[in-house]
Amino acid sequence: MTESQNSRDLRESADVIVLGAGPAGLVLANLLHAAGIDCVLLERASPTHVRTRARAGFLAPHTGRILDRHGLADGLHRRGTRHGTCEFRTRDGRFRLDYGALGQGGQGSQGGPHHVYPQQYLVADLLTHYLDHGGRIRFHTEALAVGDADGTRPYVTAREPDGRPTRWTARYVAGCDGRHGAARRSLPPGTVRRHHHDHGVTWLGLLAEAPPSLDAVGYAVHDRGFAGHMARTPDITRYYLQWQRGVPADAWPEQRIWDELDVRMRAADHGPLHRGPLQERGVFDLTCDVVEPLRHGSLFLAGDAASLLAPAAAKGANLAVLEAEILAEALTDALTRGDTAGVDGYSDRCLEHIWRAQEFTGWMTRLLHAPPDTDEGAGPTFQAALRRSRLASLRSSRVHQEWFAENYVGV
Ligand code: APR
Repeated sequence: MTESQNSRDLRESADVIVLGAGPAGLVLANLLHAAGIDCVLLERASPTHVRTRARAGFLAPHTGRILDRHGLADGLHRRGTRHGTCEFRTRDGRFRLDYGALGQGGQGSQGGPHHVYPQQYLVADLLTHYLDHGGRIRFHTEALAVGDADGTRPYVTAREPDGRPTRWTARYVAGCDGRHGAARRSLPPGTVRRHHHDHGVTWLGLLAEAPPSLDAVGYAVHDRGFAGHMARTPDITRYYLQWQRGVPADAWPEQRIWDELDVRMRAADHGPLHRGPLQERGVFDLTCDVVEPLRHGSLFLAGDAASLLAPAAAKGANLAVLEAEILAEALTDALTRGDTAGVDGYSDRCLEHIWRAQEFTGWMTRLLHAPPDTDEGAGPTFQAALRRSRLASLRSSRVHQEWFAENYVGV
């Protein structure tokens, strides 16, 4: 191949370029394609990686409604299950909240039970649907930068699977490529405000080859730290252990992990946990961030690229789907009818949902964890007493339970 050929860019174009084939990018691309919009999805990973990456697994009722609305929920209804109960385990005993029933109270309620459906199944369904309907996607294609977003012809530079540079021109670019993707990196300094908060808590996330030990989402509040239990499938269960920051995921043998889960989930009082081999381990800090505004000219952010939530209330994927539907409607109106009200209002509309989700997730994180650097060995601290009181209120107050249910599943 001659130098000129090798250095030749592959020039491509589309009305909308979507970066990232996660829940946000795939819902957006499906909706745009169904509306007849010329769009292409650039995804740096392989199809196999996209289809098998295990992440979240609790979909809110509203997410189910969005997927239903657009014919994207067949797999969810076929293989998903419903989950509507939380079980809190504390030094004062355990109590259960049937948030699925509690949240279905008021008019226009957003409440109801979650769908339990592993995210990799949802992403695989969305990808299959997109490809079956002729959607354009380029795998192994990494977006490097978004340029001229505040100009008239934004473009995306990307690297082809063989390493060659490509340059895609578009009318709009949707950054659905996560917190560390090219979209966020391409926001010119001083054009956005990046809020960041560290909850001071670290989790060891575990994927166990074992059936669920509870028929509920389990939240254990213990002086030794938080422990969590979330079903994924009849044979796979996710557990979390509050973990010392800086300690690697493989620091403890499996036996010690299960023994610690037993202690914190008070298995001696409430029954043994179903043990099994730990398929996956990962340590992550509970941090969150929000980018404001979510638009820079023709570049829009959605999903984790827009905001990252601590996982305590399993809201990330649900916000990603909600933002994708809002953005799809806005871009379709702008491209088919010249109506820019949706794109002009996109950021404010999504930020309202994001901050509501951030507020509840922050409350939930503080409810479940002692603040960092707390020495509860010297007896309960003021914060521990507050936490205990909040849990007592959640146990006994119907109004508090309805507030919890509405916010726990709402987006
Ligand atoms: N170029 C192309 N693709 C990229 C790039 C890049 N530079 N950087 C990241 N990607 C791809 C990733 O490979 C991934 O497939 O973008 C996709 C981002 O997907 P997610 O991280 O799942 O993000 P999103 O769609 O925003 O969903 C966010 O879903 O995973 C759950 O709860 C989790 O909050 C999270 C939510």
